[in-house]
Amino acid sequence: MHRTAGEPDAHYTPTDIEMEYFAANPKPGDLDRHSTLARTFIEHHVEHKRRVALVTSGGTTVPLENQTVRFIDNFSAGTRGATSAEYFLENGYAVIFLHRQFSLLPYSRHYSHSTNCFLDYMTGTEDGPVVVQNDYQQQMASVLRRYRKAKKENTLLLLPFVTVNEYLWNLRELAMLMHPLGANALFYLAAAVSDFFVPAERMVEHKIQSGEEFAQPNGDVPSEEEQRGRKPAAHMDGKSLMIDLDPVPKFLKLLVDGWAPQAMIISFKLETDPNLLASKAKGALKKYAHHLVIGNLLNTRKWEVLFVSADGAEKWIRVPANRRAKSVTGRTDNGRTGGKDDREPALEIESLIVPEVASQHSHMIEHGDPRRPNGSQA
Ligand code: PMT
Repeated sequence: MHRTAGEPDAHYTPTDIEMEYFAANPKPGDLDRHSTLARTFIEHHVEHKRRVALVTSGGTTVPLENQTVRFIDNFSAGTRGATSAEYFLENGYAVIFLHRQFSLLPYSRHYSHSTNCFLDYMTGTEDGPVVVQNDYQQQMASVLRRYRKAKKENTLLLLPFVTVNEYLWNLRELAMLMHPLGANALFYLAAAVSDFFVPAERMVEHKIQSGEEFAQPNGDVPSEEEQRGRKPAAHMDGKSLMIDLDPVPKFLKLLVDGWAPQAMIISFKLETDPNLLASKAKGALKKYAHHLVIGNLLNTRKWEVLFVSADGAEKWIRVPANRRAKSVTGRTDNGRTGGKDDREPALEIESLIVPEVASQHSHMIEHGDPRRPNGSQA
């Protein structure tokens, strides 16, 4: 009987689903290189008894063709992940930053926006040296100092992914490599991971032809993929492009039970409807048995988040109204018009989130895992 990856089936255990997924979907070409880098990094920090946070960041793509011209993507720029990574480093963690390639990176994020380009901070004559303008010296020096410290102390490892498949392979590999860290490992899953994908067996090789002259006559000549079984996930039907995606198998429970049983695991829940946020975050916590789910709404995520802990406690963390950053449109994030007013320097919400997370992590290390009542380790 054919079973689609991720489909619920009473006879399939999470381990079966894992084995099936990783057998059917190709290992990324750079996984072995990532694995070597991560192993060395983790060994170093195990030796120094340092905590290590795996921060995931940015969106995942869902390619529609093997030789990819078209793909499905999402909104995430990686702000949450890149900003949080900096605060983890400041709080004494080493950070493995598993990020979407070309999304924001810790430290360089301050100057990589098109609206905040580093070139606007520089000055110099045609032949003379290029220097940072006086107004920005202090701020840039501070970012540079922190960046150099992370490099010198070897506390930041950057590992990129692009597709959802690459993300899943990397997450599993890193989770297993982090085993020796025991409770000193922390997962901070800020990436916006696609819930749907095209499994390898239903991916077309070449660019899907949109022009009528090249489009396959409706059903006349089955493609190679069609001959092998189901229709390709993305195919033309007359003039329409049909996309029929499979659900991404839910590996989040496996992260707790199988891959990283001693680590602290924090996942995020994104919603757009405020009425759903708390219940969806609680539902995710119950379903995946993580230590903490951080709920956030698309439109307010930069200044408020909801912590839902394993004991069911709910707590909002908010940036005070006069500390919210102005957006590039000149309006403040809370809708007030920008300009000189009673505002104090902007505060990043991650500067409030990360110390709270670190403190819960300390508590877990000192008092044992609250999800295991007798404090026993897995
Ligand atoms: O990048 P920004 O623009 O700053 O935006 C940040 C953010 C809004 C993307 C971030 O704060 C956030 O909420 N990320 C999670 C989005 C979400 O709702 O994910 P989810 O419900 O599909 O998944 C739940 C959790 O499991 C997430 O932590 C996700 O990273 C993780 N996950 C999901 C599926 C999967 N296959 N693997 C995962 O690790």
